[in-house]
Amino acid sequence: MSSIRTAVFPVAGLGTRFLPATKAIAKEMLTVVDKPLIQYASEEAVAAGMDTLVFVVGRTKNAIIDHYDKAYELETELGLRNKTALLEVVQQVVPPHIHCVFIRQSEALGLGHAVLCAQPAVGDQPFAVILPDDLIYNKGGASCIQQMVEVYDENQGSVIGTQTVDVSESDKYGMVAGPKMSERLSRVDEIVEKPSPAEAPSDQAVVGRYILTPAIFNKLKTTERGAGNEIQLTDAIAELRKTEEIYAYSFEGRRYDCGSKIGYLEANVEIALQHDELADSFKTYLQNLAL
Ligand code: UTP
Repeated sequence: MSSIRTAVFPVAGLGTRFLPATKAIAKEMLTVVDKPLIQYASEEAVAAGMDTLVFVVGRTKNAIIDHYDKAYELETELGLRNKTALLEVVQQVVPPHIHCVFIRQSEALGLGHAVLCAQPAVGDQPFAVILPDDLIYNKGGASCIQQMVEVYDENQGSVIGTQTVDVSESDKYGMVAGPKMSERLSRVDEIVEKPSPAEAPSDQAVVGRYILTPAIFNKLKTTERGAGNEIQLTDAIAELRKTEEIYAYSFEGRRYDCGSKIGYLEANVEIALQHDELADSFKTYLQNLAL
């Protein structure tokens, strides 16, 4: 059984970079090939042994709640038509042993505030935070969050997923710095949200995967608005670092920034090229297009 049982999905952001697509539906319901982004994230958590999925939702996110609900009419109809494979696809969105909890963040005050909203469902235990718009794919290997659970088990401290980026992009990310402990693991000595390239402490960027100890909640309660006038998770982690060791883990896998249009398009192309049914025909299509 996994030591981390609960995954939090903060999905209450406004998704402004995808307007008008996200005017009435959540960014996390945008599909990559044939599944919504949120489902890639929940499958990653379930595969890592988590059984409580906490969705922090906002207005316009009802489709997410519906996606994780039982679809009686659809399931009955698929059953009557003997569409067993499709029925399984629909039912597997929430495997039987999984509990889903939905919490409203009534105002989009920032990622840190969204995580704080999850406290009543998380309680006093370590938990994962997964941002579905960072789709991370590790073909044939352990998922990013699974790798991080293993790091947590070995080190018993909060773990932040990181990736090397071009320093010119530091103002899009939380950036961390600290001494290396092994090839992929470092200690976090410094963490800062969206620094300018001149102020970036390193080229290591925080991406949307965290394992946090519950002590983060008390830090979040006193975190003031920071970059972008939002309550930033990064700022609370910087406070937590003063009392607990925090680790940065450079995960194995390819990350697609599906919060940006270009990252979303890349994910669709590359995941279609790995898809059982589509890979061959899509490859032929792309080859013809490139001629
Ligand atoms: P982003 O920074 O990507 O913001 O949030 P956003 O609002 O979703 O998208 P843009 O930038 O306007 O296009 C990172 C994550 O934090 C969640 C988002 O849903 C996303 O998963 N979030 C952000 C919240 O849940 N609540 C917030 O108040 C802010």
